[in-house]
Amino acid sequence: MPARKPRAPKVPPAPSPSNGFLNVVDERTGTNYRLAVEDGAVRATDLHQIRAKPEEPGLLSYDPSFTNTASCRSAITFIDGDRGILRYRGYPIEELAASKSYLEVAYLLIHGSLPTKSQLSEWLYHITHHTMLHENVQKFMDGFHHDAHPMAMMVSTLAALSTFYPDAKNISDEHIRYQQAYRLIAKVPTVAAFAHRHSTGMPYIHPSNDLSYTENFLAMMYRPSWTTQYTPDPVLAKALDTLFVLHADHEQNCSSNAMRAVGSSHADPYSCAAAAAAALYGPLHGGANEQVVRMLQEVGSKERVPQLIRQVKEGRRLLMGFGHRIYKSYDPRARLIQQIAEEVFAVTGRNPLIDVALALENIALSDDYFISRRLYPNVDFYSGIIYQAMGFPTDMFPVLFAIPRMSGWIAQWIEMLQDPEQKIARPRQVYIGLPERHLEVTGVRVPVRRPARTVDTRPRSRAPGPTPAR
Ligand code: CMC
Repeated sequence: MPARKPRAPKVPPAPSPSNGFLNVVDERTGTNYRLAVEDGAVRATDLHQIRAKPEEPGLLSYDPSFTNTASCRSAITFIDGDRGILRYRGYPIEELAASKSYLEVAYLLIHGSLPTKSQLSEWLYHITHHTMLHENVQKFMDGFHHDAHPMAMMVSTLAALSTFYPDAKNISDEHIRYQQAYRLIAKVPTVAAFAHRHSTGMPYIHPSNDLSYTENFLAMMYRPSWTTQYTPDPVLAKALDTLFVLHADHEQNCSSNAMRAVGSSHADPYSCAAAAAAALYGPLHGGANEQVVRMLQEVGSKERVPQLIRQVKEGRRLLMGFGHRIYKSYDPRARLIQQIAEEVFAVTGRNPLIDVALALENIALSDDYFISRRLYPNVDFYSGIIYQAMGFPTDMFPVLFAIPRMSGWIAQWIEMLQDPEQKIARPRQVYIGLPERHLEVTGVRVPVRRPARTVDTRPRSRAPGPTPAR
């Protein structure tokens, strides 16, 4: 039976800075329309009343790639792309990164406020006690080819988890929803580490309940075997935790939009998370961090940076890790990541790619091509250099993005389910294909569709009208 929509929670009203009306004159008919402006937006469905002739369909808004369309009202993440501002639930990202752990931030994103002491200990308990994977998930992962990309393994394994937790389909049950939130946030590092161990042929290291979220992940990644001691470096574990804070959510990006779109059909959260991870995998989204490092390795030295810039300006390639749909100034996450890089290098030694990256940034930010298009380094520009210094293989970088983004996806998914205005995501299209035409098959008479006949179904005695023509 299809799940019922969960009840809407009491959400504090969003700020409404710019309400009023927009007067629109349709020059085709001379008709004037008064459209309500709410929170700086007009409702696309209000355009529907605008039509040139009564028999014509109403006006659509055309917005390929949603460059200027709000698909939801959200209280989770705020971005001001012109001023380089990012806030989770109202808190500036800089403050959260400086003083809160990733799991506190994950709680904040999902619940709307930071946890109290007792809420935090309960939250940590649940996350810590859901990190194990079913033995059959491990067998499932064993089936991947030895050189499978870890992000592809992640996408498939997230989808496979749906078969292990069939109760997750009951999305209208709040308790079940939160149960899956614990499982997804807790298990995603285990899936990630197992994907890496599978690639390298190393034995899987099961999670340890006495380690923090990122220490546990580092141990599952790097501990040689159960019989070998391994102590994660606290500076690296902390740096990774801060990177996770920076990556946790970013409002309606491609993968969150996938999470919401798939979730809007009431699919279970594992299937939704697999779709979101698949969206993140692409090189224009979370796969960019991997491509940045490959690009920097290819450039190799500061001296060869101008050659790369030339290729970019000639339109032959993209400068990976640069540009953003929303940020038209410096991505605040990129600035914070530069600081983390220095802390990590103090432990690991300096990654020489950072000098190539800094030279690239300097040249790009003084070049008119990048200035005029307002292209700045984004979150992916420096993160890969840090991951590489920490010893992560390059193809693990998108996976490292997916681990923390899980909390953002879940927050977006729950908010979507609780929003009484949300229905199944189903965009419209502007049809530009051929008008109706008919098959011409030699020697065969193709029936021509005639207008439908009106058939009178009333009982004969009470409907003495004319017999329909045949
Ligand atoms: N290198 C060179 N030119 C670029 C770049 C780039 N990285 N990004 C945008 N441009 C140019 C683009 O060619 C276009 O030029 P023109 O006006 O002459 O046609 C102009 O800048 C506007 O770009 P756009 O493609 O319309 O911008 P968009 O909002 O559709 O795309 C983007 C945003 C992030 C996909 C794009 O900037 C890009 O492909 N960047 C490289 C990949 C990357 O770093 N992705 C990570 C994004 S941040 C993390 C995340 O959210 O996943």
